[in-house]
Amino acid sequence: MDKEIILITGSSGQLGTVLAEKLQEKYGVKNIIATDLRVNPTFNGVFETLDVTDFDAIEAIVLKYKITQIYHLAAILSANGEKHPLSTWDLNMKTLFNVLEVSRIHKISKVFFPSSIAVFGNNVERLNTPQSSNLTPSTVYGISKAAGENWGKYYFDKYGLDVRSLRYPGVIGYQSLPGGGTTDYAVDIFHKAVKNENYECFLNADTTLPMIYMDDAIRATLELMEAPKDKITVRTSYNISGLSFNPNQLETCIKENYTDFKVTYSPDFRQGIANSWPMSIDDLEARKDWQWKPKFDIKSLTKVMLKNLELKYNNNLINS
Ligand code: SER
Repeated sequence: MDKEIILITGSSGQLGTVLAEKLQEKYGVKNIIATDLRVNPTFNGVFETLDVTDFDAIEAIVLKYKITQIYHLAAILSANGEKHPLSTWDLNMKTLFNVLEVSRIHKISKVFFPSSIAVFGNNVERLNTPQSSNLTPSTVYGISKAAGENWGKYYFDKYGLDVRSLRYPGVIGYQSLPGGGTTDYAVDIFHKAVKNENYECFLNADTTLPMIYMDDAIRATLELMEAPKDKITVRTSYNISGLSFNPNQLETCIKENYTDFKVTYSPDFRQGIANSWPMSIDDLEARKDWQWKPKFDIKSLTKVMLKNLELKYNNNLINS
């Protein structure tokens, strides 16, 4: 295998923080070039400040480091995106076009583009939503991801650029905080429990959504990116499933450890977004093409989240 030198955009975000470390373990610290507008103070490795809306800036980094792969994680998520619809569209699309173009021009071997369950709208089968569902997203974020998936396929079909993609469910991890999504409650709730505070949930207690534990999400990403090219039959974006639960079920699980923990429910505009999303995902194609299988259920996820957040707060690794 030729030496891979990997550029990550959005490396200080929820997924980027963890993915950068995993890629460093796999490909060597100096071969991972982490970039973001914000510096992640806990990151150890090669970091460059990068505004991905600036084509020249991204091209300069690709040339400087002789980049061979790009993981393009920078984006504005579902809930934050609704506050500024047009600029969210501009940013999400402009950054993607820059990544696709720089990859085409400089013959990048593989590109990863994260899509989301936000591509689905309320005309789909909400239980076990199939891969081939009609996409009528309800948020600008979802529209940009649905368009982005198709642009990835276009660059593959037209230029042979090897773009691969996953439709992530809500990602839950202790290592980093989510940044403005509709599924953020499922991370925030753990922080409140461990700090012995009450939690006011912005979704109703019975709002079932697809979720995935961070380790599973990272493993799915690496398994997809390492799968032989001829196994990739979905060139838009793969459905992947982790688990599904609602806030009430998560509250119950946390209360097994934190008996005094209290959750109140006060749904806001994010409830409308959640109502338009699937409750569970059919990931048949990912299972078939590259043998995807999640490992974490609600009990194992709760256990590992609480344990690691307790450690972090006890060792003052997070500000209370
Ligand atoms: N977690 C994301 C969000 O809520 C879904 O892609 O926006």
